[in-house]
Amino acid sequence: MKKERRLVTAALPYVNNIPHLGNIVGSHLPADIFARYCRLNKYDTIFIGGTDEHGTPIEVAAIKNNTTPQKLADFYYKKHKEIYDWFNFSYDNFSRTSKEIHHKTTQEFLKKVYANGYIKKGELEIPYCKNCNIYLADRYIEGICPVCSYQNARGDQCEKCGKILDPIDLHKPRCVICNKDNIIFRKVKHLFLDLTKLSKRLEKWINTNKVWRQQVKSIALAWIKEGLKPRCITRNLKWGIKVPFKGYEELVYYVWAEAAIGYISSTKEWNKNKWEDYWKGKNSKIYHFIGKDNIPFHTILFPAELIAHGGYNLPYNVVGLQYLNYEGGKFSKSKQHGVFFF
Ligand code: 2FM
Ligand code: ZN
Repeated sequence: MKKERRLVTAALPYVNNIPHLGNIVGSHLPADIFARYCRLNKYDTIFIGGTDEHGTPIEVAAIKNNTTPQKLADFYYKKHKEIYDWFNFSYDNFSRTSKEIHHKTTQEFLKKVYANGYIKKGELEIPYCKNCNIYLADRYIEGICPVCSYQNARGDQCEKCGKILDPIDLHKPRCVICNKDNIIFRKVKHLFLDLTKLSKRLEKWINTNKVWRQQVKSIALAWIKEGLKPRCITRNLKWGIKVPFKGYEELVYYVWAEAAIGYISSTKEWNKNKWEDYWKGKNSKIYHFIGKDNIPFHTILFPAELIAHGGYNLPYNVVGLQYLNYEGGKFSKSKQHGVFFF
């Protein structure tokens, strides 16, 4: 066995849908090929993955289908697992972010980030549907665009004129789930990762890296150049990982603030005595295989959390992959364009 350890991960897929061939080609397959290559070459290799089970789309899909997020996640987790087993991907562990081990790992991890002074407190004004009794993420609120008067502009952007919006700008806002206009705006306390404070160290780390693909490096550096602002890492949802701070018990962590920590939890679940060798060991390299839309999260947000925590290795390579197209267009489940497994 060679001395070098290699920890290989593939992006954790959401469980609000079944995977299509694009997801397979975009991360699991290349990660699997690389992990097999490393094992054949006698590197001490583990291949780690799982499903990313929190977030607004799952909570909203559950409301719409009159079920619970947990039931929905259980259903889709099984489907995902069946497909990956059928492909014979050589995962050493395939976990789920809804497991207790991940909730605990995330809470402890972010407590340390807070103790190290990288989490700030702040306030946001969030739309709340009095009919559904939930806070609405930006894309679950629609109304009239203040710029072009398009009737169905989304809270984050008007599809017609392209203007980036804030939900509070919309005229006659309504809830996309129940279609009613029983909306009020409430001031809520939130937590923010202080990316501004971490920017210089991120930039230095990105610049000293010699193995990243050019496209990955350019995307990461473009974010830094634009200026990193503190990023909200909490959400007003019921489904997710509870924020264990006094006064913040109503919140859960933002899915993108905890999903990548899922790589750590899944490694812990694989072997509670050996996991640290791969994450903290001097002779260990971490390789993330991801679709290109995930690049900012794996080159900025997650590394920022790792730096803020201290004691973890940063990824050695972030392999950002292109989309697989089908007959000249992007795969789309809703448009039934592509190759699907069910
Ligand atoms: O794009 C996606 O499907 C995300 N669920 C990927 C998450 S990767 C990691 F951070 F967990
Ligand atoms: Zn509603």
